[in-house]
Amino acid sequence: MASSTTPSLGLSLFIVSAAAILPMLCTGEAFSVELIPRDSPSSPLHNPDSTPFSRILAAAGSSRVRAAYFINRILKAGFSSSLSAVEAVDDLNLEITSTAGVGAYLMNFELGTPPRKMMAVADTGSDLIWVQCKPCDSICFHQNSSIFNPRDSSTYKAVSCHADYCLYLNSSARCTKTSSCHYRYGYGDGSVYDGLLASETIGLYSSGFNRPVQFPKTRFGCTHWSNGTSADLGGAAGIIGLGGGKLSLIRQMGSAIGSKFSYCLPSFLQTSATGRLNLGSAARVSGANAVSTPLIRIEEHDTYYILGLEQIIVAGHSIAVNRSLNLGGRGGNTIIDSGTTLTFVDNTTLKAVASVVASNVRLPQVKDPTEYFHLCFNVSGAAERGLPKLTFRFSGGALVVLPRENAYVQVAENTECLALIPNAVESVNIFGNIAQQNFHIGYDLENMKLTFVPVADCSKL
Ligand SMILES: *[C@@H]1O[C@H](CO)[C@@H](O)[C@H](O)[C@H]1NC(C)=O
Ligand SMILES: *[C@@H]1O[C@H](CO)[C@@H](O)[C@H](O)[C@H]1NC(C)=O
Ligand SMILES: *[C@@H]1O[C@H](CO)[C@@H](O)[C@H](O)[C@H]1NC(C)=O
Ligand SMILES: *[C@@H]1O[C@H](CO)[C@@H](O)[C@H](O)[C@H]1NC(C)=O
Ligand SMILES: *[C@@H]1O[C@H](CO)[C@@H](O)[C@H](O)[C@H]1NC(C)=O
Ligand SMILES: *[C@@H]1O[C@H](CO)[C@@H](O)[C@H](O)[C@H]1NC(C)=O
Repeated sequence: MASSTTPSLGLSLFIVSAAAILPMLCTGEAFSVELIPRDSPSSPLHNPDSTPFSRILAAAGSSRVRAAYFINRILKAGFSSSLSAVEAVDDLNLEITSTAGVGAYLMNFELGTPPRKMMAVADTGSDLIWVQCKPCDSICFHQNSSIFNPRDSSTYKAVSCHADYCLYLNSSARCTKTSSCHYRYGYGDGSVYDGLLASETIGLYSSGFNRPVQFPKTRFGCTHWSNGTSADLGGAAGIIGLGGGKLSLIRQMGSAIGSKFSYCLPSFLQTSATGRLNLGSAARVSGANAVSTPLIRIEEHDTYYILGLEQIIVAGHSIAVNRSLNLGGRGGNTIIDSGTTLTFVDNTTLKAVASVVASNVRLPQVKDPTEYFHLCFNVSGAAERGLPKLTFRFSGGALVVLPRENAYVQVAENTECLALIPNAVESVNIFGNIAQQNFHIGYDLENMKLTFVPVADCSKL
């Protein structure tokens, strides 16, 4: 008996002492981080002069930039590096607005030992986690927190260019003379960030924990050079990649979160409400109204979360969506992304949907006061006549019913437009964040399954 108690005592001592140092996450433990809309008064990107109309216009512009970037990366040959993607976007000659295309939500976190507090953009459309680091001399942008100095952190460690995590950067990485891993990472808005891959302790603030939950040895980029017309993230220190690729926060946490995360985004109009990013068992999304569809993995584009969109159903009419693209051989034709505001569908589908909506709405049609939308109505004094819901049918029969707030946007006083915009290039659709608002959406990367559950108000979840 004595011989068997000794090891178990040793084990429990180990657990107690580890817990006393830092609150480590047990596998699958519930964990939940605040997602702050970029237009929130508590975001450094907040513009006090913005109105719901100006925000929708800015969001439409940056959605377009981001869509062009995704579509280029997925469809154009030889897209092995993010740099060539940026060049291709430049070719499109798109108007670049500040920080267009890098994501719509921010999160607070801590980095290093002793920990430094900072805020970064949370982005489901990219993988690398990075912040600005010293020295960055002349080419660093303004950020609200002080710039991270790796020399002041006892847990900072450079990653060798021969390490797996450097290889995951593919052609975005090079070896320096000292065999460090030098990356150059580009985004859809044309901005390019250069730095060194390192490992460090990241701390996340979760409700239910009185201290940040720490993740030691997280690989992240220390950006020393920023370049691009919009390299400025408006006060945020960098970007936290939540994509499906191996460098993302989600994939690095891996089994500690059971390869599951979920989020719930409040209405686009409620800028002071926050959403939540749930990890581990908090990301189990279920319920009587839950519907699930396969997540389609494409080896060379594992950053993106890809779904098969089969039909859009309006007022009893089913409109088939072009599936000839067939990404991953499983009908993949749609990226689901939290950082793109509007929803993109191919022109043929959009025209068919707009025609059914138009014939079912008795409100007067008005010319789109912006350059983005296809179908707009004068809704003055006619709330009771409403606009029809759109139902998106994804592979496996998942029916996602978009109520008016998710399917239409108000672009001017009394003017509401169908919130779908046509793909500029080809038919990769994007299911954007207005369509996703007030759904709890679970990403299960172990079983490659995405689940939607409608909720009354994500800011109260
Ligand atoms: C950013 O910094 C300014 C001034 O330093 C401060 O007034 C503002 O509250 C900060 N914003 C955030 C979101 O921390
Ligand atoms: C920034 O990018 C532009 C265009 O790509 C390039 O001409 C310029 O040399 C770059 N600047 C720095 C400091 O790298
Ligand atoms: C990166 O390289 C790995 C092999 O080293 C390959 O499997 C993967 O598809 C590449 N990713 C991209 C985006 O090219
Ligand atoms: C469907 O998409 C393919 C590839 O993008 C395109 O060649 C074809 O013309 C599209 N079909 C329709 C009906 O739009
Ligand atoms: C919308 O209709 C109202 C009357 O119902 C009218 O006064 C207003 O000018 C119209 N707005 C537009 C943009 O057509
Ligand atoms: C779709 O329509 C938009 C504008 O309506 C146009 O700019 C674009 O070229 C069209 N795309 C295709 C693939 O036909």
